[in-house]
Amino acid sequence: MPANHGATADYTEKIPNNVNLHEDRRLQRALESWQPNFLNWWQTMGPTLPTRDVYLRTAINVGRDGWAQFGHVAMPEYRWGIFLAERDPGRKVGFGEHKGEPVWDKVPGEYRAELQRLIVIQGDTEPASVEQQRNLGATAPSLYDLRNLFQVNVEEGRHLWAMVYLLHAYFGREGREEAEELLHRNSGSLDSPRILGAFNEETPDWLSFFMFTYFTDRDGKYQLGTLKESAFDPLSRTCEFMLKEEAHHMMVGTTGVDRVVQRTVEVMREHDTDDVAGLGAIPLPVIQKYLNFHYSVSLDLFGGDTSTNVANYYTAGLKGRWLEDRRKDDHKLASDAIMVDALSDDGEIGQTEVSALVGLNTDLRREYISDCQGGVKRWNRILEEGGVRYRLRLPHAAFNRKVGAFAAIEATPDGEKIPAEEWQRRQGEWLPTDVDKTYVRSLMQPVHQRGKIAAWIAPPRNGINGQPFDYDYVHLA
Ligand SMILES: [Fe+2]
Ligand SMILES: [Fe+2]
Repeated sequence: MPANHGATADYTEKIPNNVNLHEDRRLQRALESWQPNFLNWWQTMGPTLPTRDVYLRTAINVGRDGWAQFGHVAMPEYRWGIFLAERDPGRKVGFGEHKGEPVWDKVPGEYRAELQRLIVIQGDTEPASVEQQRNLGATAPSLYDLRNLFQVNVEEGRHLWAMVYLLHAYFGREGREEAEELLHRNSGSLDSPRILGAFNEETPDWLSFFMFTYFTDRDGKYQLGTLKESAFDPLSRTCEFMLKEEAHHMMVGTTGVDRVVQRTVEVMREHDTDDVAGLGAIPLPVIQKYLNFHYSVSLDLFGGDTSTNVANYYTAGLKGRWLEDRRKDDHKLASDAIMVDALSDDGEIGQTEVSALVGLNTDLRREYISDCQGGVKRWNRILEEGGVRYRLRLPHAAFNRKVGAFAAIEATPDGEKIPAEEWQRRQGEWLPTDVDKTYVRSLMQPVHQRGKIAAWIAPPRNGINGQPFDYDYVHLA
């Protein structure tokens, strides 16, 4: 059994970890010198609402039974640790030209630049979302929601640690420099923005937060899923453990939107009207507009419809497909084809056939889209059970795109191509307008009393870790 097999981290160490950090003094010192910079970043760019402590989950173990402990923690004292999933000593590369060879414990020189780039891009998203969400505590609809926000925040902080560990441990001086840069770029900054577009958008209200955790965190889940397949084993093991934490972020988004929809239905029925603006709930068409926005910017995160870089990453074994081992093909794809989104010669919305390797971004985006349908289905079930006829839906892939084939055109949520002037005139029908945003923001009055909840959202069905909804999840400062 390897020394770190399911080992519980030693919490007397400065940096809790299951990677035997104490055996590598140089690495340990390097990470210990990054740690104060991280804490400084957390203090200046992290949550702004002062708290005494928060009922948080802390990762302590990667084993199947009991990998986390719950307790009230002062957030700056949260133990951001380094955890890799257990090593599978017999693991083989599952795809690409190295398929069947043993996985790599070190970074092969020929793939160094590419692997570093993939890790930096993933790493950049983690602190970005904390920055985007930093002011939300001030308007939390309940202590339960406040606690979930902070849980997501500290875990995104831990995901930054996860990527920084890889950079420090495997990429030498350049890796250490990139680790510094991860703290210097900031969401929405004009001089040094975060790398990906959606991570420079604001998350100014809780409806945005729930849409973000549903749609944008879900993009993260799919990216991590492809990196989990990597032949570079430490990256694979890191991502596998991150996915475990990510499940909670998805839950926050899914049930958050559930509860908003639920409350709107209740108010509609109570007052026998569709017009719930002014009655303290969020109108369904406004929810649809927020959905349209977050979904379309999240589709952009998957990159171009075709990509030779991604084809090369796959062939090299750096980044696989979602659930690679469940795919029933040769896992090399050299002679396969896929239909991808494209404009026709006369500029109409259509598709074209490309080699499967070049279309891997499309493959991943489609997996994501079908997952997103699940949310829409459950929200529509709430509408149906509430006797409401309105239905939510995902807009067409051509709607509001800034990346990919459809970036060049404008389209309605139905996928009808429209001229730029019409888009200018009508986009307020489909994306949140200033009026919508101002209304949603006007509802965002903090409810920080135990067991109480804001009027625009229903309480959750279940509390956290078996605690009731009216538990003292957060003690404010
Ligand atoms: Fe994350
Ligand atoms: Fe997340």
